[in-house]
Amino acid sequence: MLTRREFVAAGVVGAGAAASGVGLAELTADRVAFANEASAGILLKPQRLDHSLLPGTMTRGMMSYGVEGPAPVLRMKQDEPFAAELLNGLEEATTIHWHGLRIPNAVDGVPFLTQPYVYTNESFRYHFTPPDAGTFWYHPHCNTLEQMGKGLTGLLIVAEPEDPGFDQDLPLNLRDFRLGDDGQFIRQFKPRNAARGGTLGTVMTTNWQVEPRYVVPTGGLLRLRLAATDVTRIYRIKIDGADAQVIALDANPVPRPFPLTVYPLGAGQRMDLAIRLPNREGQVLRVETESGAGPRLLAELVTLGVDFNRSLKELRPLPPNPVPEPDLANATTIPFTFSWSAEKSGVESICGTLGYTFWAINRVPWPGDVPDPGGPLAVLKQGQSYIFRLINETPNSHPIHLHGMSFKLLRSNQRKLMPLVTDTALLLPQEQMEVALVADNPGDWVFHCHVIEHQKSGLTGYVKVV
Ligand code: C2O
Ligand code: CU
Ligand code: CU
Repeated sequence: MLTRREFVAAGVVGAGAAASGVGLAELTADRVAFANEASAGILLKPQRLDHSLLPGTMTRGMMSYGVEGPAPVLRMKQDEPFAAELLNGLEEATTIHWHGLRIPNAVDGVPFLTQPYVYTNESFRYHFTPPDAGTFWYHPHCNTLEQMGKGLTGLLIVAEPEDPGFDQDLPLNLRDFRLGDDGQFIRQFKPRNAARGGTLGTVMTTNWQVEPRYVVPTGGLLRLRLAATDVTRIYRIKIDGADAQVIALDANPVPRPFPLTVYPLGAGQRMDLAIRLPNREGQVLRVETESGAGPRLLAELVTLGVDFNRSLKELRPLPPNPVPEPDLANATTIPFTFSWSAEKSGVESICGTLGYTFWAINRVPWPGDVPDPGGPLAVLKQGQSYIFRLINETPNSHPIHLHGMSFKLLRSNQRKLMPLVTDTALLLPQEQMEVALVADNPGDWVFHCHVIEHQKSGLTGYVKVV
């Protein structure tokens, strides 16, 4: 049996990468403990690779930010500068977007709106200082159905200045791939699904593995970070075998931690759980998503070693992120209506088109990443508070995401909302929700549904902060 010290020494604790078998290449979480300590910056090179997702098959033409395995987990420290060089090793244009980070517009990674395309063998330098701690992720913002669908989604973890006191920190990148039985990619979407809830993948993975098993310390305190980086799926997360506390959602600590029963996680959303692991060695916990057909396994956690005998009370509560509090008494309300749009074909663009328009915001379908995407949905005055009224006129759910600024959930016509601070709100069918923010970050910020088929067939726009 391993003692706590041996557990740490064996690299089992803390190194999510080692335990998860995440193969890290040019940049690795192993080689660069905290990416923002590498002063010259790190290299992120999107490229094709072959990788075995299904036993006995090699999936050809996957995409990652490394030469083997999934995109590296980037670990940064809050309030410390970070720099990365994107070197495009793909045969098509790309960019990198840092989902949920409140950073300057110039490094937001949206073609035309904030930066030029990065073509094959070209590079682009991103540098910023993450103002908030928590679980984020990074992905391209060009030809996203294809590039994310083939693998370009990675987790980004910004550490709190003071360690909260966990024994292990385990990031789980949850996503599907659309593969045939031979392990090869099949068509990424079906138009009739794109006009509805979106097209689901055929193989569910966690860190690019099917139902992986991780070793966790007996009686220890685990921080489990779940990120729904799939292009479509809304997970319904539950844990079987131990009590889990939800401590943060979309990188922001929840007002009061609460026990997890089943919680929805839409495309783009994240959840941090604090789990007190069982006292006996060899106990198995199941991380599951609830589906119509019953629970489906995402990953298993198995306790190993002597009993750490920790208590959740020993954890330091997560400090709230420094997101400005909206002034509701003086806020201007802006409606955003999400609806179907008359079907017409999409506009060709370097960053890809699905060839269809199914959706619209305020009746205007987004034309795609083109030189003239049209005017903003709204112009916001820097420093002012706004209430966004999100009106879902459709029978589908939409994880609605804003770049560059976080917002606070106020109310819904369907349910009671926690006053969460977030970057992605899961809007239920026919729901009307109000959220509030301070427009404190100048620039053009994309506002879109994170079901990528919706995003790419009209459900996108932007707001301008001046
Ligand atoms: Cu996850 Cu427009 O972003
Ligand atoms: Cu984003
Ligand atoms: Cu949507």
